[in-house]
Amino acid sequence: MLNGRAIAKRRRNDVAAGEGGDGSSKKTTKQKLCSGSSSPTTTVGGSGSRGTTVTGICDHVSDRYEKVGRVGQGTYGVVYKAHDKQTGEFVALKRCLPHHESTDGFPLTTIRELHTLRMGRPHPNIVKLLNVAVSSTNNVFLVFEFCAYDVAQLLDAHYAKYGESPFQEAHVKTLSRQLWSALEFLHERAVIHRDIKSSNLLYHRGTLKLADFGLARQYDTIHSSPMTPNVVSLWYRAPELLWKIEATTYTTAIDMWASGCVVAELILGVPLLDGKDEVEQMGKIVSCFGHPPSSYGPRVCVAGDDSEKKRSGMELTDRLMNYTSDKGLRLLYALMDYDVHRRWTAEQALTSEFFTVNPLPSRDMPTEFRY
Ligand SMILES: Nc1ncnc2c1ncn2[C@@H]1O[C@H](COP(=O)(O)OP(=O)(O)OP(=O)(O)O)[C@@H](O)[C@H]1O
Ligand SMILES: [Mg+2]
Repeated sequence: MLNGRAIAKRRRNDVAAGEGGDGSSKKTTKQKLCSGSSSPTTTVGGSGSRGTTVTGICDHVSDRYEKVGRVGQGTYGVVYKAHDKQTGEFVALKRCLPHHESTDGFPLTTIRELHTLRMGRPHPNIVKLLNVAVSSTNNVFLVFEFCAYDVAQLLDAHYAKYGESPFQEAHVKTLSRQLWSALEFLHERAVIHRDIKSSNLLYHRGTLKLADFGLARQYDTIHSSPMTPNVVSLWYRAPELLWKIEATTYTTAIDMWASGCVVAELILGVPLLDGKDEVEQMGKIVSCFGHPPSSYGPRVCVAGDDSEKKRSGMELTDRLMNYTSDKGLRLLYALMDYDVHRRWTAEQALTSEFFTVNPLPSRDMPTEFRY
């Protein structure tokens, strides 16, 4: 079995493949993203001094924020902890790395992130976007409330030291409820996050916050255009994407599969399905859930396919039965159903009996961890 540090290293290689399109229109000026103004009067960009380029539209990043250190490096951005000189609070600054855009264009993932985060009222379990700032070299920074822990880093570090999750079942119930509450909020608005994984979940003073909306998109069941199949990091990728049966017409159900992986990981302290590549990932899914139904097409041969466990798909029960009740197991099987029409929604998960049997969801969540 891998220890926490080895898992952390492998996590960095397990990234969603990203995308270039979905036919979304590409915005070409940075003003559109700053201050919410629909008719900016000042041009952001070019080589002018910061006084003439950004005044009145966006804060200049170093005028307002003092970087304290680097806290994260994702596929699409570098994240710094910083001190907000105006409010005295700590914030997270995400510098958006250019990719998939023309030289004068703007990262599509940033546009997505802003579009989703500015939609509707804030949700307590969705990381709060506080501001957008620019640097004199025209880098754009999304400014978020600062969260003390990244759930993946927390699990990896704790597991490396103690060989178990830092969360007991009552804590996992509170965290799962917070995650599904955020997902219910998004899904009601027809937004699919498309990158649910533990490193996109932040934790601050007992509250889980869903982050990283760089792949999020709204879908329209009536006028739907095909969506890219290259979404969701491999370990959390739903079988309809892996087997490529609903590769471009998937729904919010892909987030629910991924949420099942996350909840199992919160219980175990290590990722549930950590395949090295697509074939190994499919094999791990088969071990836990049996072979997919015939609607998935001809059976894929997976390594070790002949073992009794692989055929019966009992590995999920074997690995989790000492840590959670029947209700917990039943819930995970319902979230990780091959049939997307039967797979539970966030709303169903929130009303599960998992939350009404002992131990009840904890009101007393840990706020600090030793590792
Ligand atoms: N608000 C925040 N508070 C504290 N840390 C944060 C915050 N936002 C992000 N981070 C850290 O930075 C990392 C990268 O951020 P984020 O996931 O938004 O970037 P990304 O480039 O889109 O990532 P990915 O590799 O998942 O595509 C997170 O996994 C987390 O460790
Ligand atoms: Mg991320």
